[in-house]
Formats: sequence, C-alpha cells, structure tokens
Amino acid sequence: MDIQIWQGDITTLEVDAIVNAANSSLLGGGGVDGAIHRAAGPELLAHCRGLGGCPTGEARITPGFRLPARFVIHTVGPVWHGGDRREPELLAGCYRSSLALAEAEGLASIAFPAISCGVYGYPLEAAARIAAAELSRSRPPGSSLREAILVAFGVDMVRIYREVLGAA
Ligand code: APR
Repeated sequence: MDIQIWQGDITTLEVDAIVNAANSSLLGGGGVDGAIHRAAGPELLAHCRGLGGCPTGEARITPGFRLPARFVIHTVGPVWHGGDRREPELLAGCYRSSLALAEAEGLASIAFPAISCGVYGYPLEAAARIAAAELSRSRPPGSSLREAILVAFGVDMVRIYREVLGAA
C-alpha cells in the first residue's frame, strides 16, 4: 500500500474513505470531527445516532453524504494520560480497525487525520510512529487497499510524518 503525506483539510479529499477522529458517542464534536460533520451535512449525525457509539480503539463506517469522500470511518482515539493506560495499543487499534473496515468494504484509498493529536493530547511524534508502523504493515492477501494518506493539518505534523516515514 502506497503511503502519502498531505497537508490540508481532510474534508476536501476525494478518496474512498476519510477517517474521523471521533469520540465514543459518535455524535460529533470539535476539531476534525466538527469539520467532517459540517461538511457531510445533518444526515451524517442522523445516521450516527443509530450506531450506538464506538469504544476507544475501534471504528465504525458510515456513508460520506455531502462529502467528496464516499465513506467516513469514525474511530475513537485514546486520551493521552501519560502512556501507561494502553494508549499506544488503543491508538494502533484505531488504525488497524479503520484499515480492516476499509478492506471489508473493498475500498482502495483512505485518508487519516492525526488521531488523538489534538484535544486528546497524544504526543505528535509518538502518534506518528504508531500511524507509520500500522500503515506499513503488509496487507492481507487480496486486500483492496492501494493508497493511504496521512493528513497533516499543520506544518509541524508534516515535518514529523516525513521524519517518521523516512525512518519507517
Ligand atoms: N482536516 C485534517 N485534520 C484536522 C482538521 C481537518 N479539517 N481539523 C483538525 N485536524 C487535526 C488536528 O490539528 C489534530 O492534529 O486533527 C488532529 C486530531 O485533532 P482533534 O480533531 O482534536 O481530535 P482528537 O485529538 O482525536 O480528539 C478527539 O475531539 O473533536 C473532538 O469529538 C472529538 O471528542 C473528540 C476529540
């Protein structure tokens, strides 16, 4: 699977799925969650109401509605509490669950925001290393996935992704 780094607003990407850094209610919020719900329109929230939430480290897939992306994969990242509450494993789980849902749907392209790196306070470089490691894992035979995009909203994250992927 090809891995790209791209700086900008994930809601503008015309990919098969964009990943949302949601909270466990799946009922919207600020940050990228707020941006995705604003761009997708009210049908997204109405659809999410029927999902019954999502545990940390897992993901749920919905249509993209008014977004250019066909689907939204909502995942719930861990809140950073210092690293001894399974944060690394839970964050890795977000990437793994999202990739597995995309493959189950037969999708070819997926874009990720920097999950947990905003409100949830995850250290940027540690999170980038987890993202790079999970995206670099070989995919199961027959996987539909061809491209993953790591979306950096700020230039600092671009630099960190470049450094980490260079080393991955
Ligand atoms: N496109 C791409 N990335 C974005 C966008 C956007 N439009 N808006 C914000 N980001 C980036 C942030 O800069 C950060 O690097 O997404 C990353 C994740 O930050 P948050 O959106 O704050 O998500 P997170 O840290 O996972 O916290 C999740 O915040 O919005 C609430 O409902 C959400 O409770 C949940 C919590």
